[in-house]
Amino acid sequence: MACTGCGEVYRRRYPSQVCGRCNGILEVRYNAAGKAGHALASFWDYENVLPKGRYKHYEVGMTRIIRSHGNANLFFKLETDNPTRSFKDRGSVIEVAKAKEYGYDELVCASTGNMAYSIAYYSKLYGMRVKVFISGNANIDKMRDIRGVGDADITKVRGDFSAAQERASEYAKRRNVFLSGDYCYRKEGQSTVAYEIMAQARNATHIIVPVGNATLISGILKGLGRMEESGELRTMPKVIAVQSTSCMPFVRAFKKGRKIKYEEPKTDADAIAVGMPTFGEQAILGLKEHGGCAVAVSDREMKKAQESFYRDYGIVAEMGGAASIAAARQLKFKEDDLAVAVVSGGNV
Ligand code: F0G
Repeated sequence: MACTGCGEVYRRRYPSQVCGRCNGILEVRYNAAGKAGHALASFWDYENVLPKGRYKHYEVGMTRIIRSHGNANLFFKLETDNPTRSFKDRGSVIEVAKAKEYGYDELVCASTGNMAYSIAYYSKLYGMRVKVFISGNANIDKMRDIRGVGDADITKVRGDFSAAQERASEYAKRRNVFLSGDYCYRKEGQSTVAYEIMAQARNATHIIVPVGNATLISGILKGLGRMEESGELRTMPKVIAVQSTSCMPFVRAFKKGRKIKYEEPKTDADAIAVGMPTFGEQAILGLKEHGGCAVAVSDREMKKAQESFYRDYGIVAEMGGAASIAAARQLKFKEDDLAVAVVSGGNV
């Protein structure tokens, strides 16, 4: 693993996801043992392109992709199909296994809700204890879901996600507990969304992704990059980041070409109410190199997209999960375009 901040390199079995020297985020570096291919039977068919680990093959991923009724150029990738109804499961199933492999029996994470639910779920399967710090704006359904898994020790903090993150980080240090959440192993697991999309919609020209901490989009960019390197892509789809106009530190920094500044989240899209995206700088660099773009949609547009999605398909997307649907409505499609909106979660 290498630190994306100071460049420090950690050889095998460094049992943390943050740099011991500068607290920066680490990047897992490894040679994938093959191609992602077009496996569509099981998430675990992608194990050869994930970091080596002692993974138990729990159910995850392999989510449906459906065509829009009203627009032949648009598909929806239904991450709501995952066991805890968000893409987070792809990352948690890897991250929790790593914590176990490193000899921990407890994990801690900060979350706006979905990640905590997902980590609690896989921790239970792995027989691990879990402590979660949830941002104050988390919706009651998510709180109930996390409680429903049982066993998780839950603290709802007074502040936003950034405040929860501080608490989790401090807890991990003080108690020598595995710090989980938006870190390097999660990013690897989440890269599998890109493999599935390119297997299900080989001619995809655009992938639209809701952004909070920017871990999902970083994973997708890494997955696409890996597929390009191994000659598996016909064309490189353009990745489009989406935030709420009421919380858009990523979009603002991307557009203005400056560093990300903390922004107090004011959006009702609680999942993506993140004022200082952990993977933000890395994702902006990646997105610029890749030729992608970043857009913002209003809370009202997300709400409308959420409601019409439920009406038209009977599928529950939460506001943050429907940000991509709202953004797709603003796109002007050309004849050969094939956009995939990642409907990232449905916990409401
Ligand atoms: N969509 C949903 C449904 C989410 O829960 C999140 C993030 C995102 C999109 C954004 O993904 O953070 O990788 O850019 N939720 C986190 C959580 C913050 O704690 O559940 P990201």
